[in-house]
Amino acid sequence: MSRPEFDRYSASYEELLKDPMRDRFGGETSAFFPQRKRDLIRAYFRDRRISTQSMSYLDLGCGKGELASLLRDDFGRVAGCDPSTGMLDAAQGIETRVQQDLRSIPFGDAEFDFVTAVCVYHHVVPAARQALTREVGRVLKPGGVFAIIEHNPYNPATRLIVSRTPVDADAVLLKQHETKELLRAGGFFPVASRYFLYFPEFLYRRTGDAVEAWFGELPLGGQYAVFATKNR
Ligand SMILES: C[S@@+](CC[C@H](N)C(=O)[O-])C[C@H]1O[C@@H](n2cnc3c(N)ncnc32)[C@H](O)[C@@H]1O
Repeated sequence: MSRPEFDRYSASYEELLKDPMRDRFGGETSAFFPQRKRDLIRAYFRDRRISTQSMSYLDLGCGKGELASLLRDDFGRVAGCDPSTGMLDAAQGIETRVQQDLRSIPFGDAEFDFVTAVCVYHHVVPAARQALTREVGRVLKPGGVFAIIEHNPYNPATRLIVSRTPVDADAVLLKQHETKELLRAGGFFPVASRYFLYFPEFLYRRTGDAVEAWFGELPLGGQYAVFATKNR
């Protein structure tokens, strides 16, 4: 494999993500962004009264492993994989494996109950997305859950930030319905979806999640999540 794209960015990743609009939205540390994803995942399982404590979880394209680390105590096993060793070097406290081939996930069949891919698919060329989705189906147990979280191209601020962020030079954003179609074609059944990141951190902290959840169908949040189960 040629040098993974993100090996070029890993050393200065946080610096390259800096954007005045993004920084104002996410607060000083930007911890708000992975925390919101962690909370959406927790809510998905909590709403269905599913305990995750004995489940195995893989974060595909985990980058520096922030989200997987935040969920480390929620699951029995937490693993991450990424083609970029530079990004993985920063991942702490979770099991990690390098993805030698962009198209294959370095784990066995039916190893996981839950897989996430967060802001990964917009870096995968459209022609390769279907095969990657089927790979996720391979490593998931029957009835397992796959969550894709992506930037929302309907949100003008998201589009602007992506257009001027160096690490997103190759990005081809996916609309929520395209993500759902990809999942269906890959053998998944979308069961829940929600747009989020409507309000910047300071406002969100004041209003709480209920207000954002109320907007969840309105395609204007900065990002969206789709949860899908693997067809049995
Ligand atoms: C924008 S970063 C997101 C990292 C992490 N998921 C997060 O939310 O912080 C995109 C990541 O996707 C990885 N990636 C790109 N193509 C991939 C592929 N085919 N399979 C898995 N990961 C991939 C990159 O190496 C990079 O670490």
